[in-house]
Amino acid sequence: MELRTARLLLRPARSDDVDPLHAIMRQPRTMAYWSTPPHESPEQTADFVTAMMEIPDGQGEDFVVEWEGRVIGKAGLYRFPDIGYLFDPAVWGQGFAQEALRAVIGRAFTVHALPRIQADVDPRNAASIRLLGRLGFHETHRQSRTWLVGEEWCDSVYFALLREDFQTT
Ligand SMILES: CC(C)(COP(=O)(O)OP(=O)(O)OC[C@H]1O[C@@H](n2cnc3c(N)ncnc32)[C@H](O)[C@@H]1OP(=O)(O)O)[C@@H](O)C(=O)NCCC(=O)NCCS
Repeated sequence: MELRTARLLLRPARSDDVDPLHAIMRQPRTMAYWSTPPHESPEQTADFVTAMMEIPDGQGEDFVVEWEGRVIGKAGLYRFPDIGYLFDPAVWGQGFAQEALRAVIGRAFTVHALPRIQADVDPRNAASIRLLGRLGFHETHRQSRTWLVGEEWCDSVYFALLREDFQTT
């Protein structure tokens, strides 16, 4: 299943995505507020890509994002109704995340008929929180020490978007 937006192609993950995604996931900037430390080896990214490819039908839908033929990130519901996204720092700030997520969310609410989508974000992740706000998500609750990332305990702020609150324009 492919989705096209004005600038982007969203498509299922493939095994040849390991190298370009590793180039993104090995960077400390990308992974500063992720649930794992930066990937140290391509094998780690290969496991990530395999997990994307093996999501059972009806339980989630994740996409690799391409811009001008180049892999720039991933966006999708890795497990309904949880949304996750990550983009190459080289392309941040150009609205690509927002553009990709609008397509993913629109499909989740229509084709998959989800009533609600949720996100789990590190409270320090200002870019992600701003992005979710732009998309209409609202904060539901917070929890401390939810993720042990390397040696550090991190917290979560949870967001939700209801189908009726999603603006398609
Ligand atoms: C979060 C992330 C996906 C945003 O990607 P992006 O392509 O830069 O997002 P967009 O360009 O669509 O911008 C979204 C909004 O965040 C804002 N923003 C970008 N970087 C920001 C920062 N460091 N601090 C505050 N706001 C920021 C943008 O200005 C934009 O707001 P606007 O539409 O009001 O101008 C990207 O920073 C990323 O991949 N981070 C690493 C992985 C990650 O943390 N994923 C989320 C896990 S919950």
